[in-house]
Formats: sequence, C-alpha cells, structure tokens
Amino acid sequence: MANASELPIGIFDSGIGGLTVLRQIRRQLPREDLIYLGDTARVPYGTKSPATVVRFACEDTQFLVGQNVKAVVVACNTASAWALLALEKRFPVPIFGVIVPGACTALKKTRSGRIGVIGTKATIRSEAYKRVIADRNGRAQVFAQACPLLVPLVEEGWIRHEVTRAVLREYLDPLLRRGIDTLVLGCTHYPLLKRAIREVAGSEVALVDSAETCAQFVRASLKQLGLLQSSESREGWIRSYVTDETEQFTRLASRFVGCPIPAAEKVELPSS
Ligand code: DGL
Repeated sequence: MANASELPIGIFDSGIGGLTVLRQIRRQLPREDLIYLGDTARVPYGTKSPATVVRFACEDTQFLVGQNVKAVVVACNTASAWALLALEKRFPVPIFGVIVPGACTALKKTRSGRIGVIGTKATIRSEAYKRVIADRNGRAQVFAQACPLLVPLVEEGWIRHEVTRAVLREYLDPLLRRGIDTLVLGCTHYPLLKRAIREVAGSEVALVDSAETCAQFVRASLKQLGLLQSSESREGWIRSYVTDETEQFTRLASRFVGCPIPAAEKVELPSS
C-alpha cells in the first residue's frame, strides 16, 4: 500500500471556480498530485439552502475519498461555510476549508479592525467569516456583502468590462463607506476580479485572496501532519472530474488555472 504522503490531494467545488484554489495549490505544492471535482451539474451552490449545500458537499467528498486521496480541500466558500463541520465529522481524512485561512489573514492585515467580506448569498447568510473573526478578535468588526452577480460575470469572461466595474461599485460602496481597510474575497471566482476590485476599492484597502490563503494553509497543515510528498524531483499530475458535460469546463478551465489542464472526465456522484 502506498505511503499516505504519496497519495493525491482531493479538491472540490460547486463548479469551475475552485480551479483558482487548485491553481494556488499547484503553485505552492508543485510535487503533489491533485484530483479536482467540479459539481457542474448542480452549480451554483451559492443560491441553495444550507441543507442542500451540506448534502452536495458530502457527496463530493465521498467521491474524492473513494479516489483514495490523503486530504480533501473544500475550495468552495459556500460549502466551506456550511458543510465543513459535517465533513470533518463524517470522513476519515483531513478536511481543509477556505474560511479559517482567509479570516486569519484578514486579521493579520487589518490595522483598523474594520474588515469587509464579499461572497455568495449563502456564504454571507452563514456569517461564517464573521464568527471565525469574532472568535479570534472580539474587537474586529465585519461588514459583509453578498455579490450574486459576480459569479456569472466572471464565467461570462467580463473580467475587465465596464458593467462589471459598475456592479462592483454598487456592491463595494456600502463597505467602503463603513471605512473597511481589508476586504476578504470570499468566493472562488473573485480572485479573477482582483484587478477590478482593486480599482474600485482603492489601493488603501488590503485584499485577501481566499484561494491563496487556503493553499498556504493546506501546505502548512500537510507539513504538520507529515503528509507532504517526500519526492524532491517529481512534478505532480492533475486529474479533473465534472458531473455535467465536459466541454464548458474544458473551455473555461485555462482561464481559471492560468494554463491548460488535461481534459476532464464526467462522473456520477454516489448519493449520501
Ligand atoms: N464556488 C462558489 C463559492 O465559492 C461560487 C459559485 C457557486 O455559487 O456555486 O462560494
């Protein structure tokens, strides 16, 4: 049997957006093999009820555990917000989400203690970022804003479009008026809008990329658990699976990863 550290890392998301997390993990852990699952048949999760998100996240994790992964990364902010505890209880592998690393980095970056969080409706409704921040620093204030239009704009490729900037102004103005000095990009898709967000928010506001902070957290945690790939020289492979047809995923994937990745395979998920 393979040593656990030699096994792949599983990563899942509601769809394609979690490839921003895969990209960061790839950058920080180039020797690791990565198995990505995008639940493209049931995306978006951000508009679903908590119970549905938990059920979907359990099925996604079950699939990855069935692929014999050494750990599962919940790349989806919405699934991290609602399902992390359920997944930790149910599955026998380490489970890493995006919320705690993003919240901790925001606390490190803020000077005024006034932190903005943007995400899907479900992520904002969960108050997950707010809870993690309040647990660690009772004086920090969190101002949250759901931004449901941003995911479709990114998937449409309107990254530098004037309409996207106008939408961002609508969403960010209330947070900026509250005097935030740090903004958590609490959704898989928002790292692609970093430049536009920076233009609207101004250079004084520190941005926290939850994909990047998650990858740093995964690296540190795997190291602590003795689960990092031991081979110094190898280059890890990437395998991706989707639950709907593969064409759309393959077409958009390189935009999210920043380079082409091997074609995805369509799978049926086990029901929970
Ligand atoms: N992946 C989701 C998230 O990070 C965004 C897309 C969706 O709503 O499923 O919250």
